[in-house]
Amino acid sequence: MPGPAFWNMRVLVEKSDRLLSEILAEGEFMPDMRCGGNGTCGRCRVTLVSGVWEAEGEIVSAPAEALACRTKLLSGPGEVDLVPIPGNGKISAEWNALPLPAKPETVIAVDIGTTTIAAVKIRNGEVTAKAGGFNAQSKYGDNVVTRIHYAGTDLAGLQNSVLDSIRPLLLQLGTEDVRRIAVAGNTVMTCLFHGLDPSGIGVLPFTPPARIFPERNDLFDEIPVLTVPCIAGYVGGDITAGLYETKLKPEEMLIDIGTNCEIVFHTEKGIFCTAAAAGPAFEGAGMGCGRRAVDGAIDHYSGNGKYTVIGNGKPDGLCGSGMVDFLAVERAAGHLNEFGRIQPKNECFEVADGVKIYECDIEQLLKAKAAVWAGIRTLESYVGAGAEKIYLAGGFAQYLNLENAVRIGMLPERKYEIVGNTSLAGAARLAVSPEIETDLEALIDLPRELPLNTLPGFEDNFIDGLLLN
Ligand code: FES
Repeated sequence: MPGPAFWNMRVLVEKSDRLLSEILAEGEFMPDMRCGGNGTCGRCRVTLVSGVWEAEGEIVSAPAEALACRTKLLSGPGEVDLVPIPGNGKISAEWNALPLPAKPETVIAVDIGTTTIAAVKIRNGEVTAKAGGFNAQSKYGDNVVTRIHYAGTDLAGLQNSVLDSIRPLLLQLGTEDVRRIAVAGNTVMTCLFHGLDPSGIGVLPFTPPARIFPERNDLFDEIPVLTVPCIAGYVGGDITAGLYETKLKPEEMLIDIGTNCEIVFHTEKGIFCTAAAAGPAFEGAGMGCGRRAVDGAIDHYSGNGKYTVIGNGKPDGLCGSGMVDFLAVERAAGHLNEFGRIQPKNECFEVADGVKIYECDIEQLLKAKAAVWAGIRTLESYVGAGAEKIYLAGGFAQYLNLENAVRIGMLPERKYEIVGNTSLAGAARLAVSPEIETDLEALIDLPRELPLNTLPGFEDNFIDGLLLN
């Protein structure tokens, strides 16, 4: 039932000993639980409309504002207004890869992302339907580290969340004649999908509980489910799929820029892979104006009040591609110096009415772009050669202005090809041609994993990357 503002939802809550966030997470409208209920991100803030509550240890009578993850209803029923996790966003279900074999069976492929899930139905080698949604595991936090943390106490809850996020997509696509489903995702998502505890990925030497996953027929109405195998703790099945789809040749690199930037470099000396912790800044975390790629986010920015907004409405923040544009455009205009300081000195820069970027936000962006830069350059230095061509996979790259990403020193000047959601493409190929499973299992043993921070030059490259060119 819509609440008073068009983006708010009003929810009725019965008295309970449980936290408000736990109750809301079971319902239709889930608050943004970026820090997984640690009380640190402030994203789960709700308006208490009626009722008497205990919020952060204090007795509070409505109306008041409170963090859902720190609030319980003392006498009720109580009403709450919240901004739920947006359901309309850019969920990438496109890819540029070799055509799929035109087999008559109907199959479904699913890309399990930490934030979003994309699914496609395929018949005769063609995508006949698409569906996308958010991963309900977000109530456990918005990144793999918090998911690993909660797996220790609620592994079943994490598995059920992802299965419950996929089921409506399957329903939307229709499963009557579906012969098989194949899934791909990063290693933590893949383990949680199978109900395996990924705790080993959270500590050195980041060992996953499994890299190869058996066929299942107990998840979705006995439909056989295949899984793209994973390479390492932080280099998952999404990258295995990308490697298979791009047929990476010597001197070519594959990168998936996300919270965790996964990089694979095929060289004459072998295939090397690593992961750079870019952090969630490009996904909007830790910044007042940061947004995921959802309605209301500025996705492209060209300065002087010119920008485009996802959903074409009023902007309320910037997503990653908009932030890269902002750095490039305002640096070129002289409004940012090489250290990201606002010129002339000011505490913030207003990119649109009410959308302000502060210097502390810019610092987060510089660290994220420095991590990507350092990951690429350190790997190239280690093997002693620059990549001749770089394939950029994943949703973020699809909306990225490459020229701006090179201009700000996030990506080096190379030949690029944006390949889209190759994780979904690889899952699609496995669903259509299950016989490639053995090829995929052989593929995961080829890359040699290199821990980035132990490679020479990493720190210098990171420091170089902090500067705005
Ligand atoms: S402050 Fe409640 S989820 Fe982050």
